[in-house]
Amino acid sequence: MNTPICDFVRTYANSKQLRFHMPGHKGAGTLGIEHLDITEIEGADVLYRAEGIIKESELNASALFGSALTKYSTEGSSLSIRAMLYLAMLYAKSIGREPRILAGRNAHHTFMTAAALLDLKVDWLYPEHWDNLVACEITPDYLDHVLCSQTKPAAVYITSPDYLGNVADIAELSAVCHKHGILLLVDNAHGAYLNFLSENRHPITLGADICCDSAHKTLPVLTGGGYLHISKHAPECFCQQAEKALSLFASTSPSYLIMQSLDAANRYLAEGYAEKLADYVPFVGELKVRLADFGYTLHGNEPLKITIAPKNLGYTGYELAEILAEHRIICEFADPDFVVFMLTPEISKEDLDHLVQTLCAVPRKEAIDIKPPMPSKPKQICSIREALFATSTEVSIQDSLGQTLASTRISCPPAIPIVVCGENIDEDAIRCFEYYGVEMCQVMKE
Ligand SMILES: Cc1ncc(COP(=O)(O)O)c(C=O)c1O
Repeated sequence: MNTPICDFVRTYANSKQLRFHMPGHKGAGTLGIEHLDITEIEGADVLYRAEGIIKESELNASALFGSALTKYSTEGSSLSIRAMLYLAMLYAKSIGREPRILAGRNAHHTFMTAAALLDLKVDWLYPEHWDNLVACEITPDYLDHVLCSQTKPAAVYITSPDYLGNVADIAELSAVCHKHGILLLVDNAHGAYLNFLSENRHPITLGADICCDSAHKTLPVLTGGGYLHISKHAPECFCQQAEKALSLFASTSPSYLIMQSLDAANRYLAEGYAEKLADYVPFVGELKVRLADFGYTLHGNEPLKITIAPKNLGYTGYELAEILAEHRIICEFADPDFVVFMLTPEISKEDLDHLVQTLCAVPRKEAIDIKPPMPSKPKQICSIREALFATSTEVSIQDSLGQTLASTRISCPPAIPIVVCGENIDEDAIRCFEYYGVEMCQVMKE
């Protein structure tokens, strides 16, 4: 697989021409990578009017992911999520449906801000058994039941995999959506690598109409590198309007370092990555068995995430993460209940083994019997947009009772809101904020 963006930039850098164009470092500087950092000069193509090397590279990515169109983002999945929602809105308008999205409640912060920017109406899909803020299991039967009982939304929006490594049944969920004539949008920020498993579990393969991937989260790509994938069965306007949708929200100075990284990844992924995963995933599976045999409670079904709930061994997630940090092991995420490790084949099997040995050397203590409080389904007072654009004031969590949340800035890590802006803060929500250590919040002024 060729790498047209990398080739162009290297040739340009080697030609040592005088750079009377941006960026200001002019190709040299303290990082040592400045010579590869260019802007949209002649021949370098234009990210959201791609006709040259960027288009050629994106076609490579599209072939790898089996999409009708794959566009690059140098601003992560966040940009792709805004574009997805914009496209869903355009489509809704074209078929005379209201701009309303039915979304799994564990949607990322970016989804809320995008909904506010686009003035989207959001109805939440709560799981049947809600025992965890980060996870939100929506079964196909339950989705079918919900869709039968309401007027058709423009689209259903699911986050899969979630931060704890739960992968939804996208094949069945998309079948349900399509039976009802509704689009399925997937936040696949954590799942780009699912495309390369022996059994392809990527949302585009399984029937989603459109999805975002943070290439940088699970593939060897620089931070910020992402994709917007459009499926072959998505409405025509999605491919036609994708560049416009992205450019509405994107910087006009996309990073060519990130684009080179995405470009180079195409070759890396095409040449032996699936084989690498086929060897690595079963090894990770064996490690999970070792951890479970030791007594750890594991969570989630994602092959390359290890999520441990350590309270049964006497530790909060924070405490376990701290112990690991003393051993120079840094996890992805920790909260009172979980520690999450994100793995890729870039971590050697020896290093993985070291992680498991360290975890299995932790002395057991008396189990902690404190369950996380759950918010009740908060009452919506006004739209996300009205709340986010309202004048607001900062108050302590204890003083926020009965007020309407104005800003999404308070969020339980990993950026999943306990209360969405525009919702009433009740006693259950306050208990949650306290549990996750949130002390202040922005509420709407009267
Ligand atoms: C589920 C989910 N969606 C979207 C995002 C945003 O992705 P990015 O950081 O690539 O913009 C994140 C980031 O952590 C995420 O966890």
